Amino acid sequence: VSETGSLSIIVLGASGDLAKKKTFPALFNLFHQGFLNPDEVHIFGYARTKLSDQELRDKIHGYLVDEKNASEKADALSKFLQLIKYVSGPYDSEDGFKRLDKAISEHEISKRTSEGSSRRLFYLALPPSVYPPVCKMIKAWCTNKSDLGGWTRIVVEKPFGKDLESAEQLSSQIGALFDEPQIYRIDHYLGKELVQNMLVLRFANRFFLPLWNRDNIANVQIVFREDFGTEGRGGYFDEYGIIRDIIQNHLLQVLCLVAMEKPVSLKPEHIRDEKVKVLQSVIPIKDEEVVLGQYEGYRDDPTVPNDSNTPTFATTILRIDNERWEGVPFILKAGKAMSSKKADIRIQFKDVPGDIFKCQKQGRNEFVIRLQPSEAMYMKLTVKQPGLEMQTVQSELDLSYKQRYQGVSIPEAYERLILDTIKGDQQHFVRRDELKAAWEIFTPLLHRIRDGEVKSIAYKPGSRGPTEADQLLEKAGYLQTHGY
Ligand code: BG6
Repeated sequence: VSETGSLSIIVLGASGDLAKKKTFPALFNLFHQGFLNPDEVHIFGYARTKLSDQELRDKIHGYLVDEKNASEKADALSKFLQLIKYVSGPYDSEDGFKRLDKAISEHEISKRTSEGSSRRLFYLALPPSVYPPVCKMIKAWCTNKSDLGGWTRIVVEKPFGKDLESAEQLSSQIGALFDEPQIYRIDHYLGKELVQNMLVLRFANRFFLPLWNRDNIANVQIVFREDFGTEGRGGYFDEYGIIRDIIQNHLLQVLCLVAMEKPVSLKPEHIRDEKVKVLQSVIPIKDEEVVLGQYEGYRDDPTVPNDSNTPTFATTILRIDNERWEGVPFILKAGKAMSSKKADIRIQFKDVPGDIFKCQKQGRNEFVIRLQPSEAMYMKLTVKQPGLEMQTVQSELDLSYKQRYQGVSIPEAYERLILDTIKGDQQHFVRRDELKAAWEIFTPLLHRIRDGEVKSIAYKPGSRGPTEADQLLEKAGYLQTHGY
């Protein structure tokens, strides 16, 4: 991080789940790796609960290290915790935010060097319903006013609204207070190693350039599965469902990187311009290209209504109506309470014309990028079965990160993204027009689900989801290959 001066990181919603599980651990890891300079940084927690500085530290302590590395990190941990201060107050009260500003200013005076500026990063680990009042308060009382320069930035998490209209309303409210370069909309999938690798893979490798199009690719699948249900979050989840929770943001962002044209440069605006074009080229989703599911037992959660139609599983086919992709189905699939926990991208190539080996039935070429767990890329291809006879077999060219990059630890998505917010790099954040285009794609379907016009089919927890989803894949031209 090249800029100098005081850096205040303010975590609003400091005692909540997201802050404890993701934000503070990511900050600690950055600190531990030397990215947060203790001579410059202070971290402030803000929330409604009355707590002392020490009580907040005690609350988050257990999330920062695990038993295995506790002793090795003990020294860094105690230094990190000392940087944390806490201010309590409501999310819409002048008084609370004035006290917060005072605490930040005191810190800035104590850390500022003569050439230093003051940098203020507000991380809203809060439900979106309080974004507008909180942003208003930050704008009125807590922005950087130093004449030595610096900045004020706001980090927000999804869900950004529930549909196009509510998202646009939220965007206008925040947009009236802060400029786009100050707003960082996190989609943590954009911080994952193999998602960040996507553009390198596509545009730095001659192999893929001529093949990445409708002439060669039969279909693309982007799949997310979790092997647990909505335990403990049923109330939240029922309002949103799997499309808003995973598909409209995480999987759609991945789709953009798979489908976009080469950007003019790596400048964030150039990359995001290309992503927006992809989203704008998606044609309306047809009901017959959607399968929704809900796992049995989901409604047993007392916070979930007995007649809920909220999908915990969905397969939807998106079609990109442009020169590169017309006719290629992009199958987005996500499910909770499935048989395994996995996220991957599967590019299936068309059959080879003139099958002289009669090997087509063994399966097509497929290129798979496994985002998690165990990051890997592998290519399924046909080879001669070793031996005297001329027989073919499907085999794999495999790049498994654990084996290839032994000893290299892959950073957590949140670490990377928080570091970007401090550096001022918006490449891996969602721009306002991108968000709008994403909502435009899914809003009509979401409204039909809300109105009960598209129903969720029951599936067994621990299964592959409704069999109708596999039938839809087949109809879309996906050819099941050996071993999948
Ligand atoms: C979150 C969703 O955005 O992503 C959760 O709200 C989901 O429902 C999580 O479990 C998955 O993230 P990851 O990084 O574990 O794949």
